[in-house]
Amino acid sequence: MSTHKFATQALHAGHTVQDNKGTRAVPIYQSTSYVFNDSKHAADLFSLATPGFIYTRLNNPTNDILEQRLAALEGGIGAVVTASGTSAIATTLLTLLRSGDHIIASNSLYGGTFNLLNVTLRRLGIETTFVEASDPQNFGTAIQENTRAVFVESLGNPKLDVLDIEAISKQAKAYKIPLIVDNTVATPYLLNPIKYGANLVIHSLTKYVCGNGTSLGGAIIDAGTFDWTNGKFPEFTEPSPGYHGLVYSDALGEAAFIAKIRVEGLRDFGAALSPYNAFQIIQGLETLEVRIKKHSENALALAQWLQQHEEVAWVQYPGLECNKYKSLADKYLPHGQSGIVTFGLKGGYAAAKVVADTTQVFSLLANIGDTKSLIIHPASTTHQQLSDVDQLKAGVSKDLIRLSVGLESLQDLIDDLEHAFAAIRKPEFV
Ligand SMILES: Cc1ncc(COP(=O)(O)O)c(C=O)c1O
Repeated sequence: MSTHKFATQALHAGHTVQDNKGTRAVPIYQSTSYVFNDSKHAADLFSLATPGFIYTRLNNPTNDILEQRLAALEGGIGAVVTASGTSAIATTLLTLLRSGDHIIASNSLYGGTFNLLNVTLRRLGIETTFVEASDPQNFGTAIQENTRAVFVESLGNPKLDVLDIEAISKQAKAYKIPLIVDNTVATPYLLNPIKYGANLVIHSLTKYVCGNGTSLGGAIIDAGTFDWTNGKFPEFTEPSPGYHGLVYSDALGEAAFIAKIRVEGLRDFGAALSPYNAFQIIQGLETLEVRIKKHSENALALAQWLQQHEEVAWVQYPGLECNKYKSLADKYLPHGQSGIVTFGLKGGYAAAKVVADTTQVFSLLANIGDTKSLIIHPASTTHQQLSDVDQLKAGVSKDLIRLSVGLESLQDLIDDLEHAFAAIRKPEFV
C-alpha cells in the first residue's frame, strides 16, 4: 500500500480483505477480550514475544486497522488510538514525562490543552513554558536542563497561526528533545508534520477525520525518528519496573515509544477507543480528502466575503493573500488551509453575541470539523477558563467569532451570516 496516494490509502490501508472474512467494509470487532490458544500463547502475548490481541483496553482488531491507516497517512511507523484527542495528548505526556520535567509549548493552543499543561500537569510537578511560536528561536531560548518535550499545534485553534515546524524541529533536535505536533486542524491530508521533523503527531479524530460530529477519538502517530537512547530518556534504556524489566529501546528499537504508550500508557490510564467509535471514525477517514478540500474551499470563499463586509473589523484565515501567515501556508498548507475562519465585528463583543445567537445554518456549539457549519465565541466558552492575558496570547480577543465552515452550499452560509449581521443593525441593538 505504501506507494498508493492519499485517497487510496484512506480507503484501504490496514484492512486486508482475506484476514477479515471477505468483508469489504472494516468490521466492528465488539469484543473486550480474545481467547488464547493455550497458556504459552497467553504468556508470549503478554511478554510481547508474539504479536496479537489480549484485551481491548490495549488493542482491538477494528482499532488496529484505524491505527495502521493513520500511520500510513501521516508517514509514521505506528499509531495508537485513544478515547479522545485530549486523552491522546494526556497519555502521551504522562507516558513520556515524570515529576520535575519541563515542556515548551506554543501559546496558541486549544483551551483544553492549555489548561492540561498550565494547571493539571503543573499540579503533578511537570512545568510548561509557553512561548510565542512565530519566532522559532523562542523554543531554543526556553530550553532548560529538564526540558523533555516540545508541544505545538501545526495550525493553532483558534489563533490560526501556521507554525514553522521545520524551524521548530531544528531547535528541538539540537537539544535532543522530541517535537510533538497536534495536527488536528490541518488533518493528515493537508499537512504531514513528520516530513518537517515532527517526532510524534497527535490528532483529535473527533474533528475532521470523523467529520460527522458523531464520535470522540484521538490518535498518536510515531515517526520512529527520535533517538530515545540519547541519554535524556532512561525510561527507554533502563529496565522498566512497570513491564517486568523490559528495556524498550533494546526490545523494540524505533518502535520503543509507540509500544510503551500502548502497553503502559493505555494499560495504566485506560483511555481506550471504543471499537464502535473506531468504525465511525473509519467511515469519516475514508472520505477525508474530498471533504477537507471542500471545507478549505468554502472557508476561503467565506473569509474573502467577510473581508469586504462593512460590519467586519478583521478576518483571520491563512489562505487570504494579505494574511500574516500566507507564506507559511504556501509552504505547509499548499492544498488548502482547512475550515476554520475567525473574525471580529466593528460592534465588538456585543455584536458577536447577537450574531452567534442569530445564525440558523451555523449551529452555536463547542466543536470544530463537522460537515455542518458551526459558530462559537471562544472568549466566553472554550477559552473561558484562561485569564484575559492568556486568552490574548492564545489569539482569543473578546470580539473573536470562530466559524468552523462546513460543507453546505456557500450561498446559504453567506445568506445566514448576512441575516445575522442585519440583526446587529436593528434599532433595539444599535
Ligand atoms: C487542536 C485540538 N486538539 C485537541 C482537542 C481535544 O480533542 P477532543 O475533544 O477529541 O478531546 C481539540 C478539541 O477541540 C482541538 O481543537
